[in-house]
Amino acid sequence: MTDLLGDMKRTHHCCELTDADVDKKVVLMGWVQNRRDHGGVIFIDLRDREGITQVVFNPGVSKTAHEKAGEIRNEYVLGIKGTVIPRPDDMINPKRKTGAVEVMVDELSIFSKAETPAFQIEDRIEASESIRLQYRYLDLRRQQLKNNIMTRHKAATAVRNYLDQNGFIDIETPFLTKSTPEGARDYLVPSRVNPGEFYALPQSPQLFKQLLMIAGFDRYYQIVKCFRDEDLRADRQPEFTQIDMELSFVDEKQIMTVAEGMIVEIFKKVLDMDLVTPFSQITYDQAIERFGLDRPDLRFGLELINVSDIVKDAGFKVFANVVKNGGLVKAINAKGCATFTRKQIDELTDFAGVYKAKGLAWIKIKEDTWQSPIAKFFTDEEKDALKNRLDLQPGDIVFFVADQPKITNEALGQLRNELARRLELVSNDTYEFVWVTHFPLVEYDETEKRYQALHHPFTAPLEEDMEKLSTDPASIKSRAYDLVLNGIEIGGGSIRIHSSELQQKVLKCLGIDDKEANEKFGFLLTALKSGAPPHGGIAFGLDRLIMLLCKEDSIRNVIAFPKTQKATCMLTQAPSKAATAQLQELAIKINKIEE
Ligand code: AMO
Ligand code: AMP
Repeated sequence: MTDLLGDMKRTHHCCELTDADVDKKVVLMGWVQNRRDHGGVIFIDLRDREGITQVVFNPGVSKTAHEKAGEIRNEYVLGIKGTVIPRPDDMINPKRKTGAVEVMVDELSIFSKAETPAFQIEDRIEASESIRLQYRYLDLRRQQLKNNIMTRHKAATAVRNYLDQNGFIDIETPFLTKSTPEGARDYLVPSRVNPGEFYALPQSPQLFKQLLMIAGFDRYYQIVKCFRDEDLRADRQPEFTQIDMELSFVDEKQIMTVAEGMIVEIFKKVLDMDLVTPFSQITYDQAIERFGLDRPDLRFGLELINVSDIVKDAGFKVFANVVKNGGLVKAINAKGCATFTRKQIDELTDFAGVYKAKGLAWIKIKEDTWQSPIAKFFTDEEKDALKNRLDLQPGDIVFFVADQPKITNEALGQLRNELARRLELVSNDTYEFVWVTHFPLVEYDETEKRYQALHHPFTAPLEEDMEKLSTDPASIKSRAYDLVLNGIEIGGGSIRIHSSELQQKVLKCLGIDDKEANEKFGFLLTALKSGAPPHGGIAFGLDRLIMLLCKEDSIRNVIAFPKTQKATCMLTQAPSKAATAQLQELAIKINKIEE
């Protein structure tokens, strides 16, 4: 079948030819995007990585090539040799880079035939995602996905160059390792040579990068896979990529400056966009107070307003009781949205319910009345106070959630984002960065009945909060920071603990006693005693960053071979059962699995 001509050497990619190339002899290679037979003359759109060029088979020019072109179908792989000719004026396609010309073919080589593809390779997506994931190599032929993958490459290259220029050294760290606590479940890998024992795939290179600082490398980076067995969503994959870095002898400000420089470089190289630095900053407490979430989307207003003090004695007992029990009543004024229908309000109530809100109270402000299931419960003074605090004007609708602080903030914070989506207040072309700082060091885990590190256990507490470690851990702020872009956490890091004693104290506060600390992190504690420089770092979610650069709404669309929501690979059918012999070798017995 292959009749690759010896002298057929590619001269151009399918994106290159313009009217400046007319009369040139060229050789192109690529896939058949489509084929049109126009009574005697055959037109083919030939596609390669870079673009599409129209090629023409005319029996008057080459009878052999034209005859052979008759067998061509979509997705065949061809080489053609021919002459660049201008298109007639009325056939020029201004939307395509090569739209002014076509190539008149005199030699055709069919390298490879193709069966009818599982779906049409074109920009409009009609096939279901599961089919597209099963034939991912076909899906990757689509322009949009191909562009995303190329953008990813461009961004990664910008990162490498920038970090290299700034003194960072690329160092690989192991995948077969010990559990690294980043808050997710581990993926375990059984050891054949040590039956009954397991490696954990790293949730991040956290401990290794700290050891590299102790080893004296000063500045480390790695574009690295991390593995986390957690519930998946649009911006979470079980294996994902971090731009991971660590620096010695620095404070928060220096790390942020280096990180901002890297982001600026990526945006310049990928979007030719000039970002303004420094990015704005907000403390964790302020973010929760104003936006309900620790990853505020600053592209729009709709801020949350605390009205607990106003409604604490209100006739509406739900509100009054929540405040009495230490809860919070907060509200969002959706200006001009009093036209929301009952159905829309019900949908928003269900939406808030997903985040555990027990209800979503609302008031529509009409010209001379308040329309609402709860307005009747308020005194005139309370109404006045609400009106002033919330800037209520005719045409507004205000939503309330009353609950324990965590639920009120989360539910109303999510509702804020949902309102912005529905009201189309967000544009994908706007990029709003914000650093969130001063995260709490720990939070109390009600189910486990102990404190958990909010970031990870190696994050340093604020100097001035240090003495509260044994008395009031929940009030301690840490030296952790996240970078948030358009409401998505794209990176997070901290200044680390570099003293073994303090590390042990923090582990103790997290309910990890000396014995467990030594089992799990003994190597770190020992290393910290061997001369540890002050150090800190950050890791960016590369997939999320690329998703935002490509204006995609799922990171699956920027990963060449992603997993489904159920953490499976549709292409290779992983995970799959292991052979009995393999399991025996690993000393593993499978319990009967209920189908
Ligand atoms: P953290 O856990 O915040 O920090 O992770 C850093 C960044 O990685 C991205 N990310 C993910 N992206 C896709 N899928 C996931 N499942 C996923 N989980 C996290 C996010 C996040 O901001 N070792 C620390 C960093 C440090 O302290 O230096 C760490 O891993 O964008
Ligand atoms: P009810 O008295 O249960 O009929 O509730 C009256 C209104 O208050 C309804 O619109 C409910 O959605 C709302 N509501 C009930 N509980 C809460 C709550 N915890 N927070 C906010 N609104 C609530």
